[in-house]
Amino acid sequence: MEQGLKNKVALVTGGAQGIGRAIAQRFADMGATVGVLDIQLDRAEQAAQEIRESGGNAQAFGGNVALRETFTSAVAALEQQHGRFDVLVNNAIWVRYSPIDAITPEMLERMTATGFHSIVWGIQAATPAMERNGGGSIINIASAAGFLGIPGALVYCGVKAGALGLTRSAAVELGPRKIRVNAIAPGSVPTEGVRMHLDDTLTAKRLARTPLGRLGHVDDIAAAAAFLASDESSFMTGESMLVDGGVTHALL
Ligand SMILES: NC(=O)c1ccc[n+]([C@@H]2O[C@H](COP(=O)([O-])OP(=O)(O)OC[C@H]3O[C@@H](n4cnc5c(N)ncnc54)[C@H](O)[C@@H]3O)[C@@H](O)[C@H]2O)c1
Repeated sequence: MEQGLKNKVALVTGGAQGIGRAIAQRFADMGATVGVLDIQLDRAEQAAQEIRESGGNAQAFGGNVALRETFTSAVAALEQQHGRFDVLVNNAIWVRYSPIDAITPEMLERMTATGFHSIVWGIQAATPAMERNGGGSIINIASAAGFLGIPGALVYCGVKAGALGLTRSAAVELGPRKIRVNAIAPGSVPTEGVRMHLDDTLTAKRLARTPLGRLGHVDDIAAAAAFLASDESSFMTGESMLVDGGVTHALL
């Protein structure tokens, strides 16, 4: 898959850090031109700069994924500059865990807007551009939490289960237009975003019930995204791919 994304143009949301950053790097390493979109514009610019320094093509976009215009303008800019648009990774989300009693309207709105509405707007903006060049691949970063019940994560589990349902519906509707839509469901990957929720006790518990005996690494998720973005997965759509060390299937 070394140059498996050559001549493709991709947009990765939440690309400034963590899993999104690793996906953007991997896509660029495989020959894609990558738009790194994030609400932290300075960090998105830094990520794009580092990708360029490593020999890849990348440009930064600042924007809030909760807003439809963020996607329409980024997709239009990429298509205008590079003549095509092929791959969208819906990765960004704002997350807070909370017991049910302490969920506030602001938490609910911000998590659903960034983790669910964003996928709707991303798909809507990406599909006409993908269709103009004969198809494309949309990858929604869901979570093992979309399959599980995690205490204190009511909204997160619901938003991620929603992302899985939305992936299936989009795949069926967009298949005839040669647009594939798949989801990746990562297990725990200690990124900046996750470290604030994962203390040593919880990490030890998760490790103890993970058959492969380790937490995930951002590159584990980037490798799955690279596969789903490339033509290697050209007969896959509507799929939810667990990349979780086996934890979701374990009864230990
Ligand atoms: N890390 C894990 O353990 C894990 C496990 C399962 C699923 N996931 C999923 O993977 C994805 C990435 O997770 P991560 O751990 O890298 O997260 P992270 O918090 O480290 O990074 C998220 C990125 O999204 C950006 N972002 C947040 N709100 C935004 C907004 N409104 N508009 C644009 N950008 C915004 C942030 O600035 C940040 O760069 C998320 O969808 C997360 O739910 C992560």
